[in-house]
Amino acid sequence: MFKTIVDWIDARIPMTRVYNMHMAQYPAPKNMNFWYVFGFLATIVLVNQILTGVWLTMSYVPSAEGAFASVEYIMRDVEYGWVIRYMHSTGASAFFVVVYLHMFRGMMYGSYQKPRELLWLFGMFIYLALMAEAFMGYLLPWGQMSYWGAQVIISLFGAIPFVGDDLALWIRGDYVVSGATLNRFFALHVIALPLVIVILVFLHIVALHEVGSNNPDGVDVKRKKGTVAEEDKTKFEFHEYYTSKKDILNDVVPFFPHMVLKDLMAFGVFIFLFCYVMFFNPDFNGKFIEHANFETANPLKTPEHVFPVWYFTPFYAILKAVPHKLMGVIAMFGAIILLALLPWIDRGKVRSVRYRCGLHKVNLWVFAISFIALGYFGGTPATAASDILAPVFTVLYFAFFVALWIYSKNENTKPLPDRITK
Ligand code: HEM
Repeated sequence: MFKTIVDWIDARIPMTRVYNMHMAQYPAPKNMNFWYVFGFLATIVLVNQILTGVWLTMSYVPSAEGAFASVEYIMRDVEYGWVIRYMHSTGASAFFVVVYLHMFRGMMYGSYQKPRELLWLFGMFIYLALMAEAFMGYLLPWGQMSYWGAQVIISLFGAIPFVGDDLALWIRGDYVVSGATLNRFFALHVIALPLVIVILVFLHIVALHEVGSNNPDGVDVKRKKGTVAEEDKTKFEFHEYYTSKKDILNDVVPFFPHMVLKDLMAFGVFIFLFCYVMFFNPDFNGKFIEHANFETANPLKTPEHVFPVWYFTPFYAILKAVPHKLMGVIAMFGAIILLALLPWIDRGKVRSVRYRCGLHKVNLWVFAISFIALGYFGGTPATAASDILAPVFTVLYFAFFVALWIYSKNENTKPLPDRITK
């Protein structure tokens, strides 16, 4: 019965073929490690955000008068509304945790290098869309931090010469953040951006499967050309799309069951941590939902400190570290653009940090530490120490790209293994 239904569908759309090609029989390098689970986890979080988002929308009221009260209503009166809301708010932060780790993995193993430049660029567009999605979503509960956070960030556009003020006005739809802003942010958050993100993720996977996965060694999976000798045939079955021209793929295993099991294990750990936050510390000490956001938006009362949510704070720290407003805005956007340009800034021939020069290892770690330190300074009130350290880490952040561009041209690398190692 089941087979008849599947055959009937397969004769009309390529269901089994696509499933085998892009899931079950996708050749995954056998040395993929812990760092390779975050793409899968990001997909899970994306599904969580869409499902819980749909249910939240059923009871949420997108108006300045009704928004805050409707969130309270969801939390207190809607059946299991509190679970759905905390799944969504915890999911927003979880998204950035897994995406930052996913990106860092790409940087460690040179996954952005040729031929994966477009895959990386799709990733960066996803990241930008995700930041816009999170920023707009944060306005919706219409709390104090929603309101003032949006006010501060939108007013940054005012720093752009000539068109800045008009641009900020156009984004807000009003002279201050108001119900008009809330309404358009709702439309973009609920319809436009999720659609963009889903399409980009689809293209991201298409690009990945066209060139194949990189791996912790950064060397290509070995292919043998020519007629397949009986003794050389791999013991695994891969889709003919990958084994056409009688190439034999070595060093790879089919995605099912090998990588599926690995991803499921990661999912077990992830869901444990996720539930811990969701049930026991949903505002995560004011980091995931800032405390000021439990008060309704008041355009006449500015909170003592206005900080963006933790995932924006590294870039916010860069903005504040530059004394000139326009230069600060340029530095902040520049910090993101440089990440997107990594495939061209890195002129090295060796991908993985394992076989690159010592300077690269140091450079990469200094970059990671600077990013975390900037995240800390961007989310805490200024002190005498932070006034000195935040600019230092800002310089170190940018120095990563400059240094990489210089030393990667004639880098002293370790010999690459012939085949991927364990
Ligand atoms: C919604 C967000 C995202 C989703 C759902 C997603 C999904 C995935 C999946 C499922 C994979 C294959 C499994 C893996 O390697 O972990 C992957 C690979 C990859 N992703 Fe993403 N991704 C997202 C965001 C990003 C971002 C922001 C970047 C970087 C700018 C990025 C860069 C990459 C790269 C370079 C690979 C290939 C890695 C390799 O083969 O070594 N992704 N992504």
